[in-house]
Amino acid sequence: MQRCVQSLAPVIKWSGSKRKIAPMLAYLLPEAKRCFEPFVGSGAMLPFRTSEIGMAGDVIPELIQLWIAIRDEPELTIQEYDRRWRQLQNEGHTAYYQVRDSFNTTRNPHDFLFLSRTCVNGLIRFNKNGDFNNSLHHTRPGIAPERLSKLIYQWSRYIQDVTFIVADYHQTLENAQMGDFAFLDPPYNGTKGRYMPTDFDFEVFYLELARLNRVGVKWILTFDGTAGDRAYESPVPSHLYMIKVGLPTGNSPFTKLMKTSLDPVIESVYLNFEPSAETLRQVMNFGQKELSLRANQHMEQGRLFN
Ligand SMILES: C[S@@+](CC[C@H](N)C(=O)[O-])C[C@H]1O[C@@H](n2cnc3c(N)ncnc32)[C@H](O)[C@@H]1O
Repeated sequence: MQRCVQSLAPVIKWSGSKRKIAPMLAYLLPEAKRCFEPFVGSGAMLPFRTSEIGMAGDVIPELIQLWIAIRDEPELTIQEYDRRWRQLQNEGHTAYYQVRDSFNTTRNPHDFLFLSRTCVNGLIRFNKNGDFNNSLHHTRPGIAPERLSKLIYQWSRYIQDVTFIVADYHQTLENAQMGDFAFLDPPYNGTKGRYMPTDFDFEVFYLELARLNRVGVKWILTFDGTAGDRAYESPVPSHLYMIKVGLPTGNSPFTKLMKTSLDPVIESVYLNFEPSAETLRQVMNFGQKELSLRANQHMEQGRLFN
């Protein structure tokens, strides 16, 4: 398996992606028999996984079809983007809205890639009928096909051993066993309706964390923690995890979008296992170098002890 060691530009643009902290989180990933990513989105952690065998799920079918196309048909995926992108450059905004209408009728995953790369801030948003409803980012042309093609080939190589499924996270995780690892990045509190027109039930999610603890699956959970004095997380019950690390990630895409004050976000990262002191030191050092810290990283202990 080819494993990524440094930051890789995203192939699918996704507001809320873990791209910025992925190389830092990579230090924390334990060796594992298999890696599970049940909220895959744009899959920022996929290239860093520590096991050849990967299982990635999401509830958005077109997203999973797109991942499968990138894995199995990179050439076609490039051609399809190229065609739509050139039409946008030649015809302007009407081309974007044609693709959006086409997507809402046919659910073509290639339309979905084009929309993710050209919509406002890469914000994947569906209305209550399930139609994609974000607008064209007028001031940006969208990534040039020549650049995207390199990324598509790179990502395609990294995900050859990943099985992608359209599934609720329970289903993706149902076969995870002792020795496996799960990277968990559920929708944030306060992002209702951005991905799916339903609420995410954190109480049910915490039951799943407890089940994974009983089975012996190691996990890392990320939440969009705090920005200034606003807290976006539902605090995870402390009996479920061992360690909580706060990592600075830059500014929240949501505060940016809402045009509220641009406070640095401290991403809360929870682990149900204890990494070595050396690993934690590396994460902290990496954070300082890469992100020229805008806030202090901090660490807290949960109550879970094996
Ligand atoms: C915060 S995003 C994940 C971002 C991803 N880590 C990345 O780097 O791009 C959360 C994802 O969870 C998916 N999702 C929401 N509810 C879900 C559920 N019940 N089961 C599985 N996936 C779900 C959303 O469609 C979205 O792609």
